[in-house]
Amino acid sequence: MLVRLVYASRAKATLTPAQFEDILAVSRRNNPANGITGVLCTNTFIFLQMLEGGRKEVSETYNRIARDPRHHDVQLLHFEEIMARKFADWSMGKVSFDRLNMAVLLKHSAKAVLDPYAVSGAVSVALIEELMQTAAVS
Ligand SMILES: Cc1cc2nc3c(=O)[nH]c(=O)nc-3n(C[C@H](O)[C@H](O)[C@H](O)COP(=O)(O)O)c2cc1C
Repeated sequence: MLVRLVYASRAKATLTPAQFEDILAVSRRNNPANGITGVLCTNTFIFLQMLEGGRKEVSETYNRIARDPRHHDVQLLHFEEIMARKFADWSMGKVSFDRLNMAVLLKHSAKAVLDPYAVSGAVSVALIEELMQTAAVS
């Protein structure tokens, strides 16, 4: 039973680039063992993350992430059962926002700013998909 979950959160003001790299490193260490794949988009203020994998593993990972004190205002945007993963290749891909990605943001929202709190979950899913196709993922 595969599921896809998308949430948004706000980084703690004190989050440094090094701490962000730590989050990615831990994700890339834990997720393969849990069969989790996905992508983490950030402009350093806001996180938009998609998790895909088994229902139990995605639930456990999301609950662990939601308790993490490095971010707050964690809001569940989207949850669905799926037939196949969109991002099977990424234990946790990273998309950072730069000028190149602004056009993709504008396509899906009123302003060229990452604000998943202001759009529907479906729009956030579409945004992530398009970013994965057009943006530099690392
Ligand atoms: C925005 C954000 C995204 C995260 N994504 C993941 C993730 O995909 N997988 C994961 O295992 N931990 C993720 N974490 C870290 C978890 O909250 C938690 O610190 C970590 O899973 C603990 O792992 P450990 O017990 O191996 O140290 C994330 C944390 C934040 C703040």
